[in-house]
Amino acid sequence: MADMIRQTREAAERRAAALREQIEQHNYRYYVLDDPQVSDADYDALMRELQTLEADHPDLVTPDSPTQRVGAKPIEALGEARHGVPMLSLDNVFDAAELGEFDRRVRERLGTNRIAYMAEPKLDGLSVNLRYEKGRLVQGGTRGDGQVGEDITANIRTLRTIPLRLRGEGWPDLIEVRGEIVIRKADFEHLNRLRLEAGERPFANPRNAAAGSLRQLDPRVTARRPLTFFAFGIGESSEPVAERQSRILERLRHWGFRVYERVQTVTGVEECLAYYRRLMAQRETLPFEVDGAVYKVDDLGSQQHLGFTARAPRWAVAYKLPAREAVSVVLDIEPSVGRTGVITPVARLEPVQLGGVIVRHATLHNEDEVRRKDVRIGDTVMLRRAGDVIPEIIGVRYEKRPHGTQPWCMPLNCPVCGAEVIRLEHQAAHRCLGGLYCTAQRTGAILHFASRRAMDIDGLGEKLVEQLVGRGLVATVADLYSLEWAQLVKLERMGERSAHNLLRAIDASRATTLARFLYALGIPEVGEVTAKRLAEHYGDLDPLERATADALTRLPDIGPVLAQRITHFFAQPHNREVIDALRRSGVHWPAPAAAIQSKPLAGRVFVLTGMLKGYTREEAQERIEALGGRVTGHVSKNTDYVVVGDNPGSKRDKAVQLGISLLDESGFRQLIADK
Ligand code: IVH
Repeated sequence: MADMIRQTREAAERRAAALREQIEQHNYRYYVLDDPQVSDADYDALMRELQTLEADHPDLVTPDSPTQRVGAKPIEALGEARHGVPMLSLDNVFDAAELGEFDRRVRERLGTNRIAYMAEPKLDGLSVNLRYEKGRLVQGGTRGDGQVGEDITANIRTLRTIPLRLRGEGWPDLIEVRGEIVIRKADFEHLNRLRLEAGERPFANPRNAAAGSLRQLDPRVTARRPLTFFAFGIGESSEPVAERQSRILERLRHWGFRVYERVQTVTGVEECLAYYRRLMAQRETLPFEVDGAVYKVDDLGSQQHLGFTARAPRWAVAYKLPAREAVSVVLDIEPSVGRTGVITPVARLEPVQLGGVIVRHATLHNEDEVRRKDVRIGDTVMLRRAGDVIPEIIGVRYEKRPHGTQPWCMPLNCPVCGAEVIRLEHQAAHRCLGGLYCTAQRTGAILHFASRRAMDIDGLGEKLVEQLVGRGLVATVADLYSLEWAQLVKLERMGERSAHNLLRAIDASRATTLARFLYALGIPEVGEVTAKRLAEHYGDLDPLERATADALTRLPDIGPVLAQRITHFFAQPHNREVIDALRRSGVHWPAPAAAIQSKPLAGRVFVLTGMLKGYTREEAQERIEALGGRVTGHVSKNTDYVVVGDNPGSKRDKAVQLGISLLDESGFRQLIADK
């Protein structure tokens, strides 16, 4: 009997080891090489088998088992992580001349003419040190003061791009691997959208998002964040690893790490500059935030010869890309009235160059934000601008605050129409109650209606709309469709031909799509994406007008607040009148396809992952197909929903990465019961 138990245990142990190896191999193919070998279903099956095996034999669970990547239990506080070799910083240069100086110093010290450098992107994330003993990950730490950082091992383990055991062969018994943990720009934006929806404060930038995700006490939170580790070097090592930095990166790749694709060996300062220019040109389209190029003398012997200053190596330098952060002074804080009556405090700034444009204004979002940051007129502030995003004030230099400044308050009356300003309970925004009497709201609503992604009325710009509203020619958007040529030619800066062209553009806008029309209506907080969702789901305006808030919240990404905004909008008699007037003026969109009407999930693509309690896979698939939907095995950008059951596999992560809607079992049940 005892023998039999031992044998089963041994067999289980062997199977568990084999499964772990296979799963880690698939993880590596998928997350590091971006080249999966198996279908998601096969991967999920392996993972489930291992989970069952470990549940039956809990003593077989090892810390490096892939099942442990889902996140261990929360801890009280982060401990210390001492680095075997200090984690230093890099000296920065900001222009070609300074880079030339760096190269000259290196050449002089080495007595060589041309230097071979390893050029690498400088990734903007959180720098970490991973300690491996006998090939196993034993500790992960942040940089801290360079000698001692925070121990984030439990969080680090949840990253699929960090091998729990080194792959391949030839690694030293003890090795520290160094690199940067980053989050994709798209994932960062998705994460912030979810945080806003949940009433949480968004992260200021991808770097903060990565750092915040890793300095968590609950590794399960980290496990849900789409973080990626890129290796760029080594720290302590029990034996030499290579003679060149380029070879170190190769070996790190071989041991299972991801190394950024855009690393390259370059020779001489001209090639360094060419590399920088290429990186700069690609900056906006790179999936990760890059804030510079790093050049490292490739030959490690030369590195040793050059040595270190107190804070940085002499053999490496970072050439920073133009900053997206700058400092300016707040000249005024102006309440600006938007098309929905929301009053936004906008800081007027001393003009400053930022990320290639001159910035004069920065939004402060709402009164709470002004209070939270305690921004006052006269303050010196730090600004940040990422890509095309509107510049933001990220902090105040309180030490520079002049005497006698006052906290800013929202005015009691609308600065445009004088109507009362109120703040609804549980809402951050203040609103002007002037409604259509407020010319700012009317002008804003019309400009939005006419904008390119809405009804796309070419030639209807701000100055023109102000005149139309000011002269009482247009009170609501529906009035645009009864404008006449004789009225238009009398307006300032309006010739006969442009009046004619404008009328043509207005006429052309009558034929539109439901999604554009819904977006154009300017329903508070209904952006293009929501408008599209609503149009696809309801097919036509009438069923949407009849939809209850409850039914709306069952759609992905529509929370209770948004649902209420939508029903409230359609419940207003005034809004219905405008919509009716628009339809009477000939605004129309294609009739919904029959399939959409008859089959509520027609065209929707589902992926199932994990086990559902109430349905077998086949049953879930049958339900979806009966309602006109399709089930596929792979998550791609064409997937509409990923249904997530217990113990989901990598499909869930992939969905998060691609920003695809996740449905848990109850969400799925509601979705199909609703049909
Ligand atoms: S090498 C002694 N390489 O930049 C060498 N650092 O300002 C130190 N960083 O703390 C680092 N990408 O967090 C190196 N390809 C790269 C890097 C990189 C980003 C970060 C790293 C470091 C900081 C130094």
